[in-house]
Amino acid sequence: MRDFTVENLTEIVLEEYGSKTKDPRFNKIVTSLISHLHDFVKDVELTEKEWFEAIMFLTKTGHTCDDKRQEFILLSDVLGVSMLVDAINHPKGGAGTESTVLGPFYVEGAPEMEDGASIIKKAYDGEVSLIQGKITDDTGAPIAGAKLDVWQTAGNGKYDVQDPDMPDNNMRGVFKTDAEGNFSFVTEKPLPYSVPTDATVGELLRASGRHAMRPAHIHFIVSADGYESLTTHVFSANDEYLDSDAVFATKSSLVGDYQQSNDADLAAKYNLSTPFTHLQFDMGLMPSA
Ligand code: BEZ
Ligand code: FE
Repeated sequence: MRDFTVENLTEIVLEEYGSKTKDPRFNKIVTSLISHLHDFVKDVELTEKEWFEAIMFLTKTGHTCDDKRQEFILLSDVLGVSMLVDAINHPKGGAGTESTVLGPFYVEGAPEMEDGASIIKKAYDGEVSLIQGKITDDTGAPIAGAKLDVWQTAGNGKYDVQDPDMPDNNMRGVFKTDAEGNFSFVTEKPLPYSVPTDATVGELLRASGRHAMRPAHIHFIVSADGYESLTTHVFSANDEYLDSDAVFATKSSLVGDYQQSNDADLAAKYNLSTPFTHLQFDMGLMPSA
């Protein structure tokens, strides 16, 4: 019989896990996880009290999750893990638009809307803005019929799913590009907002002395048959949090410059009064492998 010690335990556990599975990817992941976890515990010489606090932290994180809230995604986001996964899977370069985090507030099944429709169901006196763009492929050719899932916070810094006083699907919609690959919708220009700080992620941020703010942005998932689906944001130029996003998700190529417009034709077409705020943000999709 073996006695387990600090010196031999990692090797014994790795042997147990690494030698019995036939799935090479599972093998790689589980043995690497065990190695790093054991190294971490040895490195910080974790006390029993700290071990139990960590268990309680993860338990509370799980209890915070429900069908509208995903505290584990948020934890991954504020630790920079989500963006590491993004960077590994979507390296910079190429013709496609860069991706960024999905975030915990995406809701499947938002209503399909007509081109040019407004996603504002409850207004907050924000700057009414026309967002237009073109979806193209890696050769620059327009993609007709691409689907755009769009969502953002309302002017109180909350997503509809965070605020029981907001109508469902406020500031959300699904749009399709026209024959020239163009899309458009009307919204209120987003504002910077705080990620939720009322549970474990908030405790972590406070203990670390970090702020919880994200720079203003609109989320997109763009998809079309034959192309890689794109999960991304457009950030607002000059936002004070562009250099300190709580979830490390900013990319300079994703910054859009909102302009004041007095274009009477556009105003008439989209039922806006002049001047209005206008953003043109084009995106490129890559063919699927
Ligand atoms: C978001 O942009 O919705 C988001 C992303 C990561 C964490 C929290 C919120
Ligand atoms: Fe967001």
